[in-house]
Amino acid sequence: MAATRGEFSSRFGFVMAAAGSAVGLGNIWGFPTQAASNGGAAFLLVYLALAFTLAYPVLMVELVIGRYAHANAVNALRRISPSAAIGRIGAGVGIAGVVVASLILSFYAIVAGWMIAFGLASVMALMGQHGAAAWLTSFSFSSNVLFMLLFMSLTIGIISAGVSNGIERWSARLMPVLIATLVALVVYVMTLDGAMDGLKVYLLPDFERALSPKLIVAALGAAFFSLSLGVGTMLIYGSYINDNENLPVVGGLVTLVDIMIAVTAGFLVLPAMYVALHNGVEIFTATGQLISEDTLIFTVLPELFATMGIAGIVVSITFFALMSIAALTSSISMLEVPVAYAIEEHNLPRKKAVLVIGGLIALASLTILLNFEALFGFVITFTTRYSQPLLGLALCIFTGWLWHRNTVLKELQKGAPDVAAGWFWKIWPWYIKFFCPVIILAIFAQSIWG
Ligand code: PFF
Repeated sequence: MAATRGEFSSRFGFVMAAAGSAVGLGNIWGFPTQAASNGGAAFLLVYLALAFTLAYPVLMVELVIGRYAHANAVNALRRISPSAAIGRIGAGVGIAGVVVASLILSFYAIVAGWMIAFGLASVMALMGQHGAAAWLTSFSFSSNVLFMLLFMSLTIGIISAGVSNGIERWSARLMPVLIATLVALVVYVMTLDGAMDGLKVYLLPDFERALSPKLIVAALGAAFFSLSLGVGTMLIYGSYINDNENLPVVGGLVTLVDIMIAVTAGFLVLPAMYVALHNGVEIFTATGQLISEDTLIFTVLPELFATMGIAGIVVSITFFALMSIAALTSSISMLEVPVAYAIEEHNLPRKKAVLVIGGLIALASLTILLNFEALFGFVITFTTRYSQPLLGLALCIFTGWLWHRNTVLKELQKGAPDVAAGWFWKIWPWYIKFFCPVIILAIFAQSIWG
């Protein structure tokens, strides 16, 4: 089986793919507004600290398990278990990851569909087709279904081409485009009136707000979601890395890229909001907080673009293209989780597995669209707030407590012969054994009772 498995052909390809998974809708709209309303630069510092002390160690857990087993999460967790009984629990954790990754994709595809529709609406506006543009931004059932299906088809197309021809090739193409687009938008927005006010809000630290326990917990959750942890996406990408690769280094690179893009997105979104304010658009809620999340993306920013004439239409197309690309490089990593499981555990050929599973996930998306009020928020909360941290906790326990420490070390030493003497091996095993489980439990407790 190992001979037929895919493999990333280069370090660059892997880092682009894993960073592509990590950099998604969460980075570009979630992080900047959270930072703005929660202490600006102080939130940034807390987020940076937590990303390196919590998210990076859990990312490393997934990469090490995946690379050791060169297999999907179900098989991998079975393999690192000390007994058959614990192996069954491990397989259960892997299957839960497969289900949760699929559910995340089912709502992500709907939101990503909106991004494509809003981008196309601006193209229509540029061509004078205002009726079509209005339909595209109407959130009607038919447009929601159409663009969800279009986005799922793109995801399915890339995943059916396999690891190096699909995931790696497209991530290596799209990620540089994403970074260039983001930087170009930042530079342009900075030249507009009002931008400096947004910059001040983003960069002036308010430590009192940023150091409140509730906020630290929120920043932790954000870091966890942002690095795609818990559901086995990083584990399966790790399983496609070759044995000569230095895992602590590539994991560190992925974390750095993810954080840098979130921070850079802050230099776009906050200044853009204050340019909108300068142009007469409302950017505060009734309680005086900055408008965030979907209202920010689908109301405030389009209103801003509308005040900017033709330039606004071009910026709008560029912005929604950026969001669509960010979503696509994340969605392919989600679909690969159930697909790899179906290929390796149920012997399905890749193309068939992708079509069947992609089809099932599209059906789940359709079910959400048909019962939007009841299901949309529920699926997001269930998967990202509860399931991701709990699955991450299980992965830490398997690696920190159940897997033989020497085997973990040997796996790391394959691509990093001196790792035992360095700081990573001195700190990381303790982190994932004690610190990460305790903190994840704290997040979980806070999200239930907080
Ligand atoms: N990391 C992605 C984001 O920041 O938008 C979201 C995500 C991707 C979560 C993949 C989970 C996942 F498996």
